[in-house]
Parts: sequence; structure tokens; C-alpha cells
Amino acid sequence: MSKMSFYMRPHNICICKGVSEEKIKDAVKRQGARNFTEIQRLTSCSTGCGTCEGRVKELLEKILNHEIK
Ligand code: FES
Repeated sequence: MSKMSFYMRPHNICICKGVSEEKIKDAVKRQGARNFTEIQRLTSCSTGCGTCEGRVKELLEKILNHEIK
């Protein structure tokens, strides 16, 4: 992998399930997820080791509070 393609890869919030920030945003904005359990159901994120739970919840809160677009 080139250095450029490394930096252009989508940032994964959940490493185990390969779920990106964009996928979680889509689950909230387009699929209507409003809580952590719904995010898990729609994306499978945080269904592996679980260490991403805090990152997922923080991201969800920021999306719902319109702190990030
Ligand atoms: S990093 Fe998300 S379940 Fe392991």
C-alpha cells in the first residue's frame, strides 16, 4: 500500500468489523438509528471485542447533537 492510499483510507471506528465513521453516519442519518443498539444492528460495529464501544457512542452523540456533519 502506498503512503498516499494509506492516508486516503476511510477511518474505521470499529477495527474488528471494519466499520467506518461514514458507515455509522449513514446508519444515523439515512437509516434512522438513534442509539448504540441500533447502530450495532445496522452496521455490526462493536459486536466483536467491544473496545470501540466508547468511540461509537461518542460519535453517535456528536452526530445526534449536530456537532459533526
Ligand atoms: S474494535 Fe469494534 S468490536 Fe472490536
